[in-house]
Amino acid sequence: MADTLPALQKEALREIAEAKDMEALLQVEQKLFGRKQGYLTAELRKLGGIPESERKSQGEALNLLKATLERALLDRKDAFERKKIDALAAEDHLDITMDLPPPPRGHLHLIPEFMNQVEEVFGRMGFDVAYGPEIEEEALNFDLLNMPVDHPARDVQDTFWMERASAEGRRLLLRTHTSPVQIRYMQTHTPPFRMICPGKVFRRDADATHSPMFHQFEGLMIGKDVSLRHLKGVMIAAVKELISEDLTFRFRTGYFPFTEPSMEMDIQWGEGEGKWLEVAGCGMVHPQVLRNVKIDPEVWQGFAFGFGVERLLMIKHRIPDIRSFYQGDLRFLRQF
Ligand code: DAH
Repeated sequence: MADTLPALQKEALREIAEAKDMEALLQVEQKLFGRKQGYLTAELRKLGGIPESERKSQGEALNLLKATLERALLDRKDAFERKKIDALAAEDHLDITMDLPPPPRGHLHLIPEFMNQVEEVFGRMGFDVAYGPEIEEEALNFDLLNMPVDHPARDVQDTFWMERASAEGRRLLLRTHTSPVQIRYMQTHTPPFRMICPGKVFRRDADATHSPMFHQFEGLMIGKDVSLRHLKGVMIAAVKELISEDLTFRFRTGYFPFTEPSMEMDIQWGEGEGKWLEVAGCGMVHPQVLRNVKIDPEVWQGFAFGFGVERLLMIKHRIPDIRSFYQGDLRFLRQF
């Protein structure tokens, strides 16, 4: 029996090498190792019945043969697999060594991106950046800004009130503008100073140009001789840098309880005589507001402004509907 093994090995290796496809190869494998009729399976089984003197050497020889043939089968299977992949690749003109295109990278939404630019542009003009809470105390949002309880200006800013008061029993609301941050800043800093404050604000209002949540950035500059000329200079320079050099501005007199005199800044919007879009309220900080935060209006004076961020972006990118900012539609956002 042992002497038939080399012949068997030679024959089996030839069959393995000549198998023309995977199916033929599997048939050879079955013939050799099949559980019921496999030749080697049967030979291995027979080992139990032969005299002990021969069993060891016969067993070793059989196992060696088995390992050789298994190796040969495996190599041939690999070769067939590789051939299949190559064929598929050729069919699809797929070059699997080619570098993949870089995965698309995301970017900030245009509002936070713009807020970062605001901080940078004003930062270069020496403005500090301040933030305040979105849930604000009534006194900071209104009273200390010279808008007492029965003041009609409060009705203009339709307020979302919180059901619960603060721990100290103070009425809370979603801030209707970023102006309370002026108060917070002035309460904690000594003039002269300049600061801006970007953030979210909330009002009960919703249509194509109003959203119940929108963004503003506030500006405040207090010094000994800060005047309306500084106000116009700073506001125009900043907007030109943020939006476009090519803009026409107009300042109209306006009314805000926390400034005197008060103005509104418009940007021309559309062709010819065109329409004007109001983008900011501004003015010289009212002496009463300075007194409310213990700054002496006989010594200090300055200007403040509040810009509507969405308004500016609507002009910059010609966006007709404010709601596009918040719908999370990537087809819209990818344009910027
Ligand atoms: N807070 C005002 C608003 O939301 C805007 C504003 C007007 C801010 C005049 C100011 C200012 O700082 O001086 O309508």
